[in-house]
Amino acid sequence: MTSVISVQGLKKHFRVTQKKGGVRDTIISLVKPTYRDVLAVDDVSFEIEEGEVVAFLGPNGAGKTTTLKMLSGILYPTSGEVRVLQYIPHERKTDFQKQISLVMGQKNQLWWDLPAIDTFLLNKDIYGISDHTYNHSLHELVELMEAGQILNIPVRRLSLGQRMKCELIASLLHRPKVLFLDEPTIGLDIVVQKKLRNFLKEYNQKHRTTIILTSHYMGDVKEICKRVILINRGKKMYDGSIDELVQNYAKDKYVAVDFESKITKTDLEAVRGIKILEFDGSKAVLSIPRNTHTQKCAELLTKFPVIDLNIREVELEDVIVKFYSRKV
Ligand SMILES: Nc1ncnc2c1ncn2[C@@H]1O[C@H](COP(=O)(O)OP(=O)(O)OP(=O)(O)O)[C@@H](O)[C@H]1O
Ligand SMILES: [Mg+2]
Repeated sequence: MTSVISVQGLKKHFRVTQKKGGVRDTIISLVKPTYRDVLAVDDVSFEIEEGEVVAFLGPNGAGKTTTLKMLSGILYPTSGEVRVLQYIPHERKTDFQKQISLVMGQKNQLWWDLPAIDTFLLNKDIYGISDHTYNHSLHELVELMEAGQILNIPVRRLSLGQRMKCELIASLLHRPKVLFLDEPTIGLDIVVQKKLRNFLKEYNQKHRTTIILTSHYMGDVKEICKRVILINRGKKMYDGSIDELVQNYAKDKYVAVDFESKITKTDLEAVRGIKILEFDGSKAVLSIPRNTHTQKCAELLTKFPVIDLNIREVELEDVIVKFYSRKV
């Protein structure tokens, strides 16, 4: 099976003028500017199959947006190969553009002074969407997003969350096969974030749309992606399942225990192979290696008057921080 997205040795250089301090240097640099190369994406390769939802993560300036722009054809690569649905994105063929969509949480594609429905109708013409597909898509998307009440209000009067719902509808009306989402939930409250995540999950399951998503919110990633690509300073650092990342970089699980009556720290310390993170006599938070945590929990239950015991994974944020700190 051929991949929907295939990236080989992708690089992007930006040439930026070097700014120096001082009036004299500023005047000199106006006449004779000096340049500095920024290597925003550095030899990145990956393949993505149809229907996958992949999170593209990394710190600020890692090269995520630059990569998405190259995949959607807005930027041309300095070198390397990109194929999306067998097309070379920066050739910007109409057939290619009809099959993809790029949504940027920080940018607006809707007409500001018009109601969203007017932009939808404009997109219908631009993409040559038939009446039947348009009506069907619009109905489905509006239902899924619960956006019926907001389509006729000028966009400038919508809240950020309402606008984002409309942005997503606008980007999906032509039923793209590939969807690029650059920080789609940025600035949204938790309720709307959750709604958008559920929407994306359902939409992907229903239509098998391939999705690449960048986000700084791990909730997005945990909810909708199985696979994650981590980049840093333009280089790919990890590509694999989130579960595997957690298993490899979070060797321990957290166990929170409540005791019916007070116990002493010395008694708890007598249990070997656990690390006490918090303790106040009647409550403790422990860090226990994942390969022994079931035995250790059983031991705690028999040795102490436990009334409640909760096992949880280390947060994905912490796993990623750990991953980067080990690699750097
Ligand atoms: N048009 C441009 N001209 C010059 N440099 C650029 C341009 N666009 C991006 N860069 C640089 O390329 C690098 C990668 O930027 P990019 O926007 O891809 O990062 P990002 O991973 O999306 O970060 P963030 O999480 O902050 O959105 C940064 O050093 C940035 O300054
Ligand atoms: Mg970005």
